[in-house]
Amino acid sequence: MKGTIDLIVDFAEKQKEKEIDRLNTGSAFRRAQDWIDRVYHAENDKGTIAELRNQFQRDSNLILITAAFVHLAPAIKSGHTSTPAITTGMPMTRPGRKAGDLVPYFLWIKMATIERWGSPVLTSTKSAAVLDIACGKGGDIHRWKVAGAKLYVGLDSDKGQIAWASKHLETVRNPPSKFRAEFSVVDCFDSSLSDVQFPFGVKRFDIVSIQVSMHIVWKTQKRAKQTLKNVGKSLRKGGIFVGTMFDDERAQAMARKLPAARERSFGNTAYKVTFSTQDSRDFGRRYVFSLFGTAENRRRYVVPWKVFVKTAGWYGLRLKEVKSFKEIFEEEHATPDYRKKLHEMNIIDEGNNLYMDLDQWEAVNFYIAFMFIKDD
Ligand SMILES: C[S@@+](CC[C@H](N)C(=O)[O-])C[C@H]1O[C@@H](n2cnc3c(N)ncnc32)[C@H](O)[C@@H]1O
Repeated sequence: MKGTIDLIVDFAEKQKEKEIDRLNTGSAFRRAQDWIDRVYHAENDKGTIAELRNQFQRDSNLILITAAFVHLAPAIKSGHTSTPAITTGMPMTRPGRKAGDLVPYFLWIKMATIERWGSPVLTSTKSAAVLDIACGKGGDIHRWKVAGAKLYVGLDSDKGQIAWASKHLETVRNPPSKFRAEFSVVDCFDSSLSDVQFPFGVKRFDIVSIQVSMHIVWKTQKRAKQTLKNVGKSLRKGGIFVGTMFDDERAQAMARKLPAARERSFGNTAYKVTFSTQDSRDFGRRYVFSLFGTAENRRRYVVPWKVFVKTAGWYGLRLKEVKSFKEIFEEEHATPDYRKKLHEMNIIDEGNNLYMDLDQWEAVNFYIAFMFIKDD
């Protein structure tokens, strides 16, 4: 057991110079404590210790956690038999909230990326037109309006979603403003948008957005090509294509580190991902995802990152930026307006502690946001 702790502490000491965000350092401390507890509880069971060592090396917050160990190291080395007390004054995550309550975090990240990438484009053009494909109930319409859109078109193939979205249009039209918006039932993945008459006579948009829907697009190569062709054709030159998706690439890399088996699963108390190891296709490769309490056992299609970027390139879309949700959070959470929103949306408390436990923090940060630019 001591050998394991020494190994962890040695590794931690090598990470000393890493710069750590205050908020996440708090999370890292909690996670570090958790690891120490697990090692102590394993006592001298060699099998358990070996498994813990493997798991530790795969921990997605490894750098931050090891940095936390630097502070804990003296207490551990002096032979504490239980978790040492931590008096750093660092903000900590709060005990977890219900899974459904994680939604505000996703919405906050969407808001931040929409404004960060969308506003500069929208405020520099007269048209300021946004096309939201697979828009669902159209909740992003408010975020686009705030980001500076003057015209918004939301498309979805589901009549029920569009009916719901259209019903709520009045809320964005009130008070009356120059902002124009429309929702329509349109298939954006399997049919060409070239024949679609967009509302308000728009031919080309400044921005096309696809939020958390790429896992549906990647069912077949035909569908992926059609969707990205639709995006490319709907954008003006210099326009941008933005979206959010699960980080399938990172998920696959984590699964590959697991012992060989017909299926490889990983996750924690907040989420679970299961890949079938026999399938390595670029399109139509299924996996099962659960965010417990919100979306469970959902079948999805893996979007291999390189294939996505390459396919987008065929339609004049060049990758400009990709960020994990965690990076976006770290970069934006201290911005006064966004900090205020974090409070208003009940994502952090008055002491700036996240209302999440570390398992949930890991789950929500498994997502990425991307931005492509239309070249020609
Ligand atoms: C996970 S929801 C995302 C909704 C919304 N973008 C959001 O961020 O909340 C996926 C959406 O894709 C829509 N969808 C599925 N197939 C589609 C297709 N072929 N064309 C357009 N929308 C589609 C579904 O109806 C659903 O509203």
